[in-house]
Amino acid sequence: MRLFVNIDHVATVRQARRTDEPDPVRAAVLAELGGADGITVHLREDRRHIQDRDVTLLLQTVRTPVNLELAAVPEMVDIALAAPPAQVTLVPERREEVTTEGGLALSAGSSVDSVAEAVMRLHQAKIRTSLFVDPDPAAVHQSAELGVDAIELHTGEFANLPAPERDGQVERLRRAAALGRSLGLAVHAGHGLTYENVRPVASLSDVEELNIGHSIISRAVFVGLERAVREMAEIVRDARRAP
Ligand code: PXP
Repeated sequence: MRLFVNIDHVATVRQARRTDEPDPVRAAVLAELGGADGITVHLREDRRHIQDRDVTLLLQTVRTPVNLELAAVPEMVDIALAAPPAQVTLVPERREEVTTEGGLALSAGSSVDSVAEAVMRLHQAKIRTSLFVDPDPAAVHQSAELGVDAIELHTGEFANLPAPERDGQVERLRRAAALGRSLGLAVHAGHGLTYENVRPVASLSDVEELNIGHSIISRAVFVGLERAVREMAEIVRDARRAP
């Protein structure tokens, strides 16, 4: 199990004042010291947190793989190709949303065409490609048909439920992960995972990578980023040892 730490919200604090601190690249280095296996950033079309310059500096600085989240539109894919990161995760994006609200719509129409086009261009550049999808069989099958390397299962619905009501969503994630693996996909998961709820997702043996941001950065405000990452990494790895 790999823990990728999403540092977008370090940039969110910086952008609140349009100044130069806190620097997300420094945050990435501390996350690596705390045991992150990779760094995730979402370069949104509205540039509300991570900026183009952050992506460039991040790629020059960190030692672990960078997972760049993007909308599947030509302008953003151009940026990925010029960067280039080890991995791109294609995500749906709506300007008015507070955060990514659902998985990609892959059934038909222009959105699947733009995802297919983005996947083709990224693969030509040999960039590992992942799709952020809801944990549903149709989305997993459609992802496999698009020829991606990986899927990231959206854990938002699981995370939004109170603890006693989560079992059904864990089972849904488990089935989607098993299906993904059986179709030859690497399976990642993320969104809304916290110190309190991560254990059942981290225990899923078919999931090999977690992307966690908001909860780690929130805890870092109080305990420091290196320690916040170390504490999350310990929970994630312990869940795998003793589910
Ligand atoms: N995975 C994806 C595709 C996301 O868009 C996000 C949020 O940017 C995350 C994971 C991390 O979610 P959170 O900040 O809730 O941990």
